[in-house]
Amino acid sequence: MSILRFHLNDRPIEDAEVPPTTTLLNYLRQRAHLTGTKEGCAEGDCGACTVVMLDAETDPAAPRFRAVNACLMFVPMVQGRRVYTVEGLRKNGTLHPVQAAMVERLGSQCGYCTPGVVMSAFEACYREDLREPWQLDDQMCGNLCRCTGYRPIREAVDLVAGTCPEDCFKKQRAEAQPAELEFGRASAGRCYVQPTSLVALWQALAE
Ligand code: FES
Ligand code: FES
Repeated sequence: MSILRFHLNDRPIEDAEVPPTTTLLNYLRQRAHLTGTKEGCAEGDCGACTVVMLDAETDPAAPRFRAVNACLMFVPMVQGRRVYTVEGLRKNGTLHPVQAAMVERLGSQCGYCTPGVVMSAFEACYREDLREPWQLDDQMCGNLCRCTGYRPIREAVDLVAGTCPEDCFKKQRAEAQPAELEFGRASAGRCYVQPTSLVALWQALAE
């Protein structure tokens, strides 16, 4: 891969010095210095590294946000795409409704699990197909806490799921180019890379 190009929290990124075997998580923390995204297990189990990408694979006419595990992704997988981290949610000094709900319901816990929780809940905010309690449980089940409880978090997610606030994120969603976005959905509210993306990855690694 010659030059990494993508949007990070709506800022265009061009980086010619990143090895293609760098994980998105390490890129965010070590290169972009966005340390809100945490490393817990580094193998896709804990959700501490959850960030959000735009996805047009399910419905190219209506791209939508997907929570992904940054520890499982290499940077070529975000080439030409849009990535959002917990640092990108607050706009003009105003908390995103997901963050506000976490504050209101006292769902904010430690700095390790909370950023990932917020990003999974962020996806739920824009999902209109999560109506049943078990669906919201499913959406959040990839984010683990090792020490306290989940009830305040679930109350916060209940507050915001499907509310789709009219803010800049809707505009970004409308502007997303389907060709940029090839992410598909697997089970348990998680998103994994489609084979087409893996082909692109290995091509990039071979360059
Ligand atoms: Fe645990 Fe990525 S660090 S899922
Ligand atoms: Fe964050 Fe338990 S892991 S509060």
